[in-house]
Amino acid sequence: MATGVCDNFLMASYLSAKGPTAFAPAMDLDMYAHPTTQENIKKLVDRGHLLIDSESGHLASGLSGKGRMAEPEHIVAAVESFFQAQAPLSGKKVLVTAGPTYEPIDAVRFIGNYSSGKMGFEIANRLAELGAHVVLVSGPSSQQIDHPNVQLIRVKTSKEMFDACHEHFAIADITVKSAAVADYRPKEVLDHKMKKSEQELSIELERTDDILGSLGKIKKDHQILIGFALETNDEIAYAKGKIGRKNLDMIVLNSLRDAGAGFGHDTNKVTFIDKDNKMASFELKSKREVAVDLSNKILELCGSI
Ligand code: CTP
Repeated sequence: MATGVCDNFLMASYLSAKGPTAFAPAMDLDMYAHPTTQENIKKLVDRGHLLIDSESGHLASGLSGKGRMAEPEHIVAAVESFFQAQAPLSGKKVLVTAGPTYEPIDAVRFIGNYSSGKMGFEIANRLAELGAHVVLVSGPSSQQIDHPNVQLIRVKTSKEMFDACHEHFAIADITVKSAAVADYRPKEVLDHKMKKSEQELSIELERTDDILGSLGKIKKDHQILIGFALETNDEIAYAKGKIGRKNLDMIVLNSLRDAGAGFGHDTNKVTFIDKDNKMASFELKSKREVAVDLSNKILELCGSI
């Protein structure tokens, strides 16, 4: 590789390749230590190639020392972390919320909503693919996620979600609040199952804390805070009002008037409105595609901060 001697298929591939190159040298210990080898390794490193260095141990010659090919797992890990470091959100910390909240009435009943958590899980997955470290705080949801960059915290109530968000917000560069958080909860929670009677029943509700609003109050200039709004009428005006009231950088509006948008569907139809009143409306797309659009907008916002 250092001299360009092209007498085999591997070298022909190397000389033709335009992408990043990694190399994992393997040879006997004296060959490895020879100045020629060391100079050639240096030449390749200076050329910008990634060295996955030889390891020490038992060698094919029966000797023991440095020259063993790096373990395949180590080669894979080195290549993965190489690409991670190139990812546009590498080094960024992200907080995402997803799903509904359940507010208990008694030992067996709760007040909830139809949110599936799909949108939030797709957003968390996409931002992790772009290299971010994501803390995903999810209310009760059957969604699963399996990405090494995602730390999943499952919660039930809005109070638990509030606490988990506040625990992780301070170090988050980007926060996306796609959870459908209950605005009210039963004032009193029975620790046993309520028995029915012939009378009508009223449950007194009290306000929950507005998580997004509370994060907006403590947000620093370098932090990006994105909220969701689900509206049924006067969508744009309400959404714009929330940007100012909750100190957001952007709001993702989904209207329940659009078929296939919002809760439970695999698709969503959204409009992005940022704090400079820049609007972008998208057609009906899969939630995966909406997460891609949102991540592109987040990259744009990161560039402007
Ligand atoms: N939200 C929150 N905490 C709450 C309620 C909502 O953090 N207790 C967040 C949601 O995660 C979402 C945003 O607020 O990102 C918008 O929620 P929505 O219920 O549409 O708006 P509200 O501000 O609660 O206003 P309204 O009920 O008047 O629509």
